[in-house]
Amino acid sequence: MNKWNQRHLEAADAGRVAHVLQEYPYLLPSSGRALDLACGRGANALRLAACNLEVSAWDISPVAIDRLRGEALEQGLEVAAEVRDVIACAPLADTYDVILVSYFLERSLAPAIIDALRPGGVLYYETFTRTSVSTCGPSNPAYRLADNELLNLFGALRVRCYREEAILGDTRRGIRDIAMLVAQKPG
Ligand SMILES: C[S@@+](CC[C@H](N)C(=O)[O-])C[C@H]1O[C@@H](n2cnc3c(N)ncnc32)[C@H](O)[C@@H]1O
Repeated sequence: MNKWNQRHLEAADAGRVAHVLQEYPYLLPSSGRALDLACGRGANALRLAACNLEVSAWDISPVAIDRLRGEALEQGLEVAAEVRDVIACAPLADTYDVILVSYFLERSLAPAIIDALRPGGVLYYETFTRTSVSTCGPSNPAYRLADNELLNLFGALRVRCYREEAILGDTRRGIRDIAMLVAQKPG
């Protein structure tokens, strides 16, 4: 069994809703199609579905997708959860009003993610930064963002919110170790 299946099997619940979605739910459209890319057990997908969006959720782990389907059923929410390698099978162009990616960093997918947004569509992105206060997250720096990297990766979009506190000021406060972006496709 691969690493992710094992982790998803052992986990107690659907996981945690990303900070970026907890902080900025009011920037979501009131309806439309949303994609949770590399969704894991789908806490974000479930939250998006509860916000009246028509949600697809993809992950390479069959265990994660099984658990998400079960949780959606239990909560009475509709989520089209699918086992899918999102690198081999990227989202189609011009399809989604919202794309959310949390704690999954595959830089080569950035152009496809931008293409997959409809004009006016919104990207929510959050993951670990190399500059950090704690030791949480991947130890391989390749899987962590450089300073301001999300802004460069998604430079074709209009930034609506960006937060990356690094080690500035009182590091006991704030949301550290991550960068979060909400950005909108022009048009
Ligand atoms: C750190 S978890 C994050 C899960 C979820 N987004 C969250 O924030 O809880 C990374 C996820 O990426 C998935 N993953 C890794 N490679 C993938 C790929 N090529 N295609 C789809 N999912 C992938 C793993 O199965 C895992 O569920």
